[in-house]
Amino acid sequence: MLSDRVRAAFYQMSGHAPTVVASAPGRVNLIGEHVDYADGLVLPMAIERRTAIALGPATGRSRCASAQFDGVWQGTLAGEIRPIRSGSDAAPEAWINYALGPLAELRHLGVDLGEIDCAIVSDVPPGGGVSSSAALEVAMTTAALALAQRTLSGIEIARLCQRAEHRFPQTPCGIMDMTVSANARAGHALLIDCRSLELRHLPMPAGAQVVVFDSGVRHRLSDGGYASRRAAVEGAAKSLGMKALRDLSPESLPASAPVGLEAISWRRARHVVSEIARTACAAEALAKGDTARFGSLMNASHASLRDDFDVSVPEIDVIVEAACAAEGTFGARLTGGGFGGCAIALVRADLAEQVIEHVNRKFVARFGRTPNSFATGADMGARLE
Ligand code: GLA
Repeated sequence: MLSDRVRAAFYQMSGHAPTVVASAPGRVNLIGEHVDYADGLVLPMAIERRTAIALGPATGRSRCASAQFDGVWQGTLAGEIRPIRSGSDAAPEAWINYALGPLAELRHLGVDLGEIDCAIVSDVPPGGGVSSSAALEVAMTTAALALAQRTLSGIEIARLCQRAEHRFPQTPCGIMDMTVSANARAGHALLIDCRSLELRHLPMPAGAQVVVFDSGVRHRLSDGGYASRRAAVEGAAKSLGMKALRDLSPESLPASAPVGLEAISWRRARHVVSEIARTACAAEALAKGDTARFGSLMNASHASLRDDFDVSVPEIDVIVEAACAAEGTFGARLTGGGFGGCAIALVRADLAEQVIEHVNRKFVARFGRTPNSFATGADMGARLE
């Protein structure tokens, strides 16, 4: 088990048992893509892949070991905690920023742990669009709060982790990933109103599972594509005279680009406005147990991400098309920021293996390799182990 592995990793590093162990899940977004930073509605679900963190006080310098990145960071947490800048994002020590960011934000709230030993073990695939970074940040915050014997609400933890991600790895992400990682309920998807941060837990359909397919095409939110989409969406809201595209209904979006708005920004806006409406419908479909309707909304979401938002890639399109053609699939789409990463299919649990085989066949025929995949139910959010 992950919690045993992280205890063992901590013991190996420090020679004694950790004081606290916490874990937090990665996520898939079922629908509501690229709308969290437009104050929209999103409907993610925590996956059965988690990051576990063991913490304890240290006598000398702080040490942090990551099994996944095969690295040990050593340094001091005395004074201001700053991001580690190594010139290249791909540098082995870049991962430590995801651990240091939450500690720096906690320090601003008066939570000072002194020097610590820390071990991290994870089975969330990194860089693959299932929010390995949010899992690490939320697990770190949960463990650090427990060590300091302090508490924060799940929403406060999400906000803190978002600030940490903006300031340390410096990716301009929205609030979705950390909110679901901190607040999810097992067996449920989480409807998040990204304007009010009101949460609604909606039961996942009985007998259904989500299959996650990793396209193997690596994206980094820091690469610029994500930031440029975000800028286009925020720019479109400004040109249309509103605070955020959440304020625009599909009916009130002009039928073509109005003067002052480029055609490409209008298409980006059309994705956002239609996606928010689709997510509201999908939440109602889930509440009513209408899985077929939910699936068709997922398919429509994918088409909009591919055609209007331009964040899909051929590998993801092949997975989505193949999954949709397989028996037992309710719907399929790109999940997460895009430019590669993962696709998901909502499937009948008893046919999940068949869907995977079908997708693999089509993918191998086109790209000569098999995408990594796994089936998952909806897990719970952060917890102490
Ligand atoms: C990434 C970001 C999220 C969200 C999605 C797109 O996962 O971290 O905040 O914007 O992309 O929906």
